[in-house]
Amino acid sequence: MSASLRLVPSQRLSEGAGVTVHRTIGTPALRNLDPFLMLDHFNSTNPGDYIAGFPDHPHRGFVTFTYLLEGHMLHRDSMGHEGDLATGGAQWMKAARGVIHSEMPQQTQGRMSGFQLWINLPAREKMSDPEYREILPAQIPVLRQEGAEIRLLAGSWAGQEGAITDPLTHLLYADITLSPLGSLSLPSPLFAGRSAFLYGIEGPFTASGTEIPPDTLSVLSSPLSPANDDLPLSAGSVPARFLFVTGRPIGEPIVAYGPFVMNTRDEIERAIDDFRNNRFV
Ligand code: FE2
Repeated sequence: MSASLRLVPSQRLSEGAGVTVHRTIGTPALRNLDPFLMLDHFNSTNPGDYIAGFPDHPHRGFVTFTYLLEGHMLHRDSMGHEGDLATGGAQWMKAARGVIHSEMPQQTQGRMSGFQLWINLPAREKMSDPEYREILPAQIPVLRQEGAEIRLLAGSWAGQEGAITDPLTHLLYADITLSPLGSLSLPSPLFAGRSAFLYGIEGPFTASGTEIPPDTLSVLSSPLSPANDDLPLSAGSVPARFLFVTGRPIGEPIVAYGPFVMNTRDEIERAIDDFRNNRFV
């Protein structure tokens, strides 16, 4: 039995101080995809959609992973980190017991495009110390196969380690470009028994016979059997670009309230109380 795909439409929302985002994971159509809690895609040439940015706000209980395809954004946080995220760069922030940060565009025109993925933490890590890592474009390994280019932000592929290694959910995060009529076979060990999705960025592409248009997420469901088939992907007459992301489910209860994601209602109340009483810093 081979993998099957389910397309999930995005929901247009206003976040931060008024940034337009297209959300797929974290909507009624897909509440979560354990360990993934939320996926926002921002992509606009209209400064009115992004210029207000995300002024100071808290997070607790998970990791935020931001990947900027185009644009320029400045990050400042309560740990004292300052990150200058530019085109092709990424940012790994383990909010854990609490971080307050701002994510502000450093441009007043042009396209701002990128993704923010929220990745849950297991209960034992939710109140651990926060961590922050900025990943420069040059630190992201590029794997080249005929007709395909794979930027490996996290995880391991064909013996190559990505820019980030995540021992908690074994995140694999790849930005893949196929040349016109190019093809690639996703090896089943990268997604079998894991939560996995594809997200179209440019040009339609076909995954196991299903066409995935840009700005659309596709959940990849596969049986747990190690005898899974690899997943064939192919581009049409134009280049195709998409994300391929997988992770190991945590399998614990999820109680979410805005920027706090814990295991119980009591822990959420504690998070709200800690934030109100300045115990995040
Ligand atoms: Fe944030």
